[in-house]
Amino acid sequence: MAAIKDTINSALEKLHLTGQQDTLAREPTDEQLSELKSKYEKGGQEQVFAFYDNLSTAEKASLFEQLSGFDVDYINQITEKALHPAKQESAKSTIEPLPDNATSSVLDSKEDDLQKWYDSGLELIAENEVAVVLMAGGQGTRLGSSAPKGCFDIGLPSKKSLFQLQGERIAKAEQLAKKTYGKKSVTVPWYVMTSGPTRGPTEKFFEENNYFGLERENVTIFEQGVLPCISNEGRILLESKSKVAVAPDGNGGLYQALIQSGVVADMGKRGIKHIHAYCVDNCLVKVADPTFIGFSASKNVDIATKVVRKRNAKESVGLILQKNGRPDVVEYSEIDTADAEAKDPKNPELLKFRAANIVNHYYSYSFLESIPEWARKLPHHVARKKIPYVNTDNGETIKPEKPNGIKLEQFVFDCFPFLTLDKFACMEVKREDEFSPLKNARGTGEDDPDTSKKDIMMQGKKWVEAAGAVVVSESDDDGVEVSPFISYGGEGLEFLKDRTIKAPAVIEKED
Ligand code: UTP
Repeated sequence: MAAIKDTINSALEKLHLTGQQDTLAREPTDEQLSELKSKYEKGGQEQVFAFYDNLSTAEKASLFEQLSGFDVDYINQITEKALHPAKQESAKSTIEPLPDNATSSVLDSKEDDLQKWYDSGLELIAENEVAVVLMAGGQGTRLGSSAPKGCFDIGLPSKKSLFQLQGERIAKAEQLAKKTYGKKSVTVPWYVMTSGPTRGPTEKFFEENNYFGLERENVTIFEQGVLPCISNEGRILLESKSKVAVAPDGNGGLYQALIQSGVVADMGKRGIKHIHAYCVDNCLVKVADPTFIGFSASKNVDIATKVVRKRNAKESVGLILQKNGRPDVVEYSEIDTADAEAKDPKNPELLKFRAANIVNHYYSYSFLESIPEWARKLPHHVARKKIPYVNTDNGETIKPEKPNGIKLEQFVFDCFPFLTLDKFACMEVKREDEFSPLKNARGTGEDDPDTSKKDIMMQGKKWVEAAGAVVVSESDDDGVEVSPFISYGGEGLEFLKDRTIKAPAVIEKED
């Protein structure tokens, strides 16, 4: 039945839809086709041509183009490595926290040091040496929204989306730097990484929202790569008869994308030296944080990361540490109980390994320039998924009930071990001030829109109270939303001294 339907659809497509496209698309020549076919045959992936002969001209052209874009040997190689990783060396890896001189914590740093880092970071912003990279290529499957995560309204009184909060924080950082250092104009370019599924809607959202008040030419939306989805047997899957099923190549696809899309070249032209990179789903992220930039630049490192304190030995977070003498990330599933529960010999109230990874990074420009030397060495990880596909034996489309294949993903932090310890630093920040990820659908109670909203409202409440305002509310859950245009990190709220604020409230203007 399904096969008959497909034949009818294909015939209809040929009659009605493809006529127009045929005038635009051109079929590859026999020679081009046989060259490409032979590559896939040699790689044991010839099934991708199963329906080729019966496709319309436009479909043939687009399938040919898609398949030409993949290096089938490379796909086979990374699939094999991901599915059958080399056996770990028998000697146990040695893990230790990062050395003291590479770490700092805003929880116990001296006020003087924090001020010094903030001032120097703000000065680098004022010199137009700082850029921001946003990773927003994920599909947000757990959140379950059809729009990109950055467009999501977490329910703040202002109804601002995550993108808007972040864009406004960039504008505020520019404004603070401009004012403090007496500059005519300050620019922090914003490079937004999207993927096939998120690019179009992200571009539209930025357009519709007038780039959140930023200059259009200082916002670059670029796209990460995709990789084919692979069956459990290692075969490339077709999403339709004329299209390979693909998925974004993970947030580690950032590195290749930064080079291929010309972002690094653009940064070079603009004289950028320091880059802040972060994930779209963190509503508390301090975008272009002067303190972090100043800290990282003072350490003269290639990469620095922000971390938060692991809550307890059981919390399922990745840890930033040194492994066999190199900076690394160890997932919670990879650490044994003794290490997870070990106490810090210098302070037995703290866990020895407590630097929880929040994927919030500093990069030196020179490190990003070196991407082509190492990007292909980043490993691929396997994500087992339910992937709809066309059965190449009979043309039926199957929607599997359980995982039938894999998506291959690179992780953005897998390049840490490429560095020596002296080129890596880590800054511990307060979770309640800087980290609240939006991962799950409303009602989950954890990392969902309600927790995001609450964390912003509570932070605002804390800020206005510290500035001398009195907040009254019927419920402890009611807080205050402070617009990033008014305050970047709690500063500049003196005008609220002795004011009574009835929560929930929004502080949008100084009046
Ligand atoms: P997650 O791994 O949490 O994925 O991404 P996600 O897409 O947001 O959500 P799920 O897992 O589908 O529910 C962490 C960060 O990495 C980015 C995301 O946009 C987010 O900022 N990311 C993820 C990319 O930029 N590209 C990818 O291919 C994957």
